[in-house]
Amino acid sequence: MNASTAPSASSQSPLDRFGRSLHDLRISVTDRCNFRCTYCMPKEVFNSDYVFLERSRLLTFEEIERLARIFAGLGVAKLRLTGGEPLLRRNLDNLVGRLAGIPGIEDICLTTNGSLLTGEAAARLAEAGLNRITISLDGLDNEVFQSLSDVQRPVDEVLAAIDHAAAAGLGPVKINMVVKRGANEDQILPMAEHFRGTGHILRFIEYMDVGNANDWKLDQVMPAEEVLRMIGGQWPVESADPNYPGEVARRWRYRDGQGEFGVIASVTQPFCGGCHRVRLSADGMLYTCLFASDGHDLKSLLRSGADDAALRRDLIRLWKNRGDRYSELRTEETSRMKKVEMSYIGG
Ligand code: GTP
Ligand code: 5AD
Ligand code: SF4
Ligand code: SF4
Repeated sequence: MNASTAPSASSQSPLDRFGRSLHDLRISVTDRCNFRCTYCMPKEVFNSDYVFLERSRLLTFEEIERLARIFAGLGVAKLRLTGGEPLLRRNLDNLVGRLAGIPGIEDICLTTNGSLLTGEAAARLAEAGLNRITISLDGLDNEVFQSLSDVQRPVDEVLAAIDHAAAAGLGPVKINMVVKRGANEDQILPMAEHFRGTGHILRFIEYMDVGNANDWKLDQVMPAEEVLRMIGGQWPVESADPNYPGEVARRWRYRDGQGEFGVIASVTQPFCGGCHRVRLSADGMLYTCLFASDGHDLKSLLRSGADDAALRRDLIRLWKNRGDRYSELRTEETSRMKKVEMSYIGG
């Protein structure tokens, strides 16, 4: 374990058991999604019998804002809104506006599948104070895309969403491509070709064993090294320095000046040493690791009348006790442990 990549702790930020400070809060605003990506919400599990969170169990925007304010006081400077599909939550721009007004918050990002990101929606979000958008897209071929996302929607819709995000000033747009062996590795080069020179940043993500629904197998993971070799075989590339300490993606640059791409190798090259992320589910549970099985019930505390000082003390205690480093310990065995689903905890 090497915590040297963690950002330097600000005076207010507690340190966990490995000396990591708190910097990012990822907020899931809904556990629902209009896609059924096989690696995230396979239809066999997320079917009509699946019990999603009831509306009354979701944190209100006021409650999310209050928690975010307390987190900002503990060193959090970056917020990411996720889901499920966050744009399914009505009036999301209202939440963005509330969060943008919090002192200490420097960056507000959104991860979306793009299906609901019209030009108008992108403009409203930007106006409310959103800084950046990441859009998921696993291939350019309609058949591959539709089989992985398990919806009958065209790739062009996602490409249009990327344009809308860029036009609204929410770029550079990052494109997340989960690579699953046997499913979409033939899309790696076409995706790289398509996004080279556009100013958008494509990131290849190793397929992970989040949750238990996706029936993950190690041999379905395509190591980032292999992706790099494929791309390097086509265009000369060189590594680029991280934008900030603890950046999840390793950056690579095309030597012909056509921009950059990234690889997120959480299976083959874990990055727990620099992990300064905490996750809040839509129903107010807090998780200090993406692979956690249990969370900490902040909603009950909030709704039982805890004041800000009590919440702050509780969060400091929780963070100081944190010893998470799942990706460094992962085996086929650990992948079968009970874990929360990514659609619930946020991407
Ligand atoms: P930037 O702020 O743009 O650098 O984005 P980010 O580093 O916050 O990355 P993003 O939220 O887009 O994450 C991309 C993907 O990386 C996620 O969808 C996950 O698949 C993976 N990922 C992000 N955070 C973690 C983490 O803490 N642990 C693991 N194992 N994977 C993560
Ligand atoms: N492995 C890797 N990334 C995943 N995502 C969802 N499920 C997985 C998984 N099993 C990520 C994708 C998507 C984001 C919302 O979550 O990157 O863009
Ligand atoms: Fe929905 Fe994103 Fe999960 Fe796909 S990866 S099912 S788009 S939340
Ligand atoms: Fe952080 Fe857990 Fe991911 Fe490691 S596995 S980087 S501790 S969220």
